[in-house]
Amino acid sequence: MKTQVCIIGGGPSGLMLSQLLHLKGIDTILLERQSREYVLGRIRAGVLEHGFAALMREAQCGDRMDREGEIHNAFCVASGGEVHRLDLQKHSGNSVIVYGQTELTRDLYEARDRMKGTVIHNVEDVKLHDLKAEKPNVTYRDGDNIVRIDCDYVIGADGFHGVSRKSIPGDVLREYEKVYPFGWLGVLSRTKPVSPDLIYARHERGFALCSLRSQVLSRYYIQVPLTDDVEDWSDDAFWSELKRRLPQDLANVMETGPSIEKSIAPLRSYVAEPMRYGNLFLAGDAAHIVPPTGARGLNTAASDIYYLYHALTDHYLNGDDAGLEGYSEKALARVWKAQRFSWWLTSLLHTFPDSIDYDQRLQDIEMEYLFSSEAAQAAVAENYVGLPF
Ligand code: FAD
Ligand code: DHB
Repeated sequence: MKTQVCIIGGGPSGLMLSQLLHLKGIDTILLERQSREYVLGRIRAGVLEHGFAALMREAQCGDRMDREGEIHNAFCVASGGEVHRLDLQKHSGNSVIVYGQTELTRDLYEARDRMKGTVIHNVEDVKLHDLKAEKPNVTYRDGDNIVRIDCDYVIGADGFHGVSRKSIPGDVLREYEKVYPFGWLGVLSRTKPVSPDLIYARHERGFALCSLRSQVLSRYYIQVPLTDDVEDWSDDAFWSELKRRLPQDLANVMETGPSIEKSIAPLRSYVAEPMRYGNLFLAGDAAHIVPPTGARGLNTAASDIYYLYHALTDHYLNGDDAGLEGYSEKALARVWKAQRFSWWLTSLLHTFPDSIDYDQRLQDIEMEYLFSSEAAQAAVAENYVGLPF
């Protein structure tokens, strides 16, 4: 097979890029290791910044998001029994949209089907070849057959555990990593959300987050030790721990019910540099991940896709390679700002097993400062709604 751009990974990054390029007449083949049902069964991001939403519209996939997504002009932080509201609209002139990653992935798959885009599921043993050559190629196994795709560019959008980043030689790739000593236990339930705003709660027993997908679907998280298994947590144990970490008046009105999804995600900060090797370009979680606090992961993938989309369009439509040449540097500049914000918010809101009294007092003071300073709130709002691409 032959294509212009071979995209590895059918998560939001890969799908979005293939859809945007298709609309510009650029041919892509997208390879996904899992079945579509599996990809659509994963519950992940819920908060989209306006830049991501704009890309969805440009990809002609924004209608349902605009109809069903909820605009949030603020979020709350609970600490010491008090709830503080951070007004995004007032401090940044912008807002975020609550719309599940599952839903937007479904919208992107439907658009790819409508436009007869080539999306191949259940590919095994994907390998990248000749990345430094003018024409690289990608192979995968389909039963007993090895299928080869010749292309101009390979996009590695295959998430943190994908094969693309691992295809860059060790002496070229620099990795920066911080692993946190806890994870998030997440529960999705068909219950009325406890609050119309998201609530990030700091508590000595550990962090908690009250989020939502709609007015009848709640998404809650609690910080748990890395040693916990999801089987250790019955629904009852989850709800009572969540309530203990929230101010009493919220806990009193919390609606509980059976979980429809329950999983534990470890927290990690990670960046791989450079994001380009020859004709391979990394995008999204394949190149960097953040702890979920602050909802930056998918939103950072969006800026990679935005830069690649423009760089590839400039290459194919205008013969201009400046965007491709500058991609890694430009993408990494924004990636690191999202790393900083996610690390800071994670450090502020979580309980660290090895923290000393000094660290806890600093967290208290940081919290006091944040909610006594309009400038500090403006800085948080600017990052939360998304820095410019
Ligand atoms: P992925 O979604 O990981 O997609 C990569 C795809 O590549 C997968 O479908 C995978 O099956 C496929 N693949 C892997 N290996 C191969 C291979 N060898 N060959 C072919 N295909 C392969 N972000 C936010 O912005 N806001 C939030 O509110 C938010 N909340 C989160 C909550 C949780 C609990 C978690 C875990 C994450 C959250 N994130 C959030 C982060 C967000 O989900 C990710 O950043 C996002 O999924 C990245 O998209 P991606 O397409 O780059 O990678
Ligand atoms: C969600 C996840 C986050 O990491 C976050 O900061 C906000 C919301 C969510 O899944 O709803």
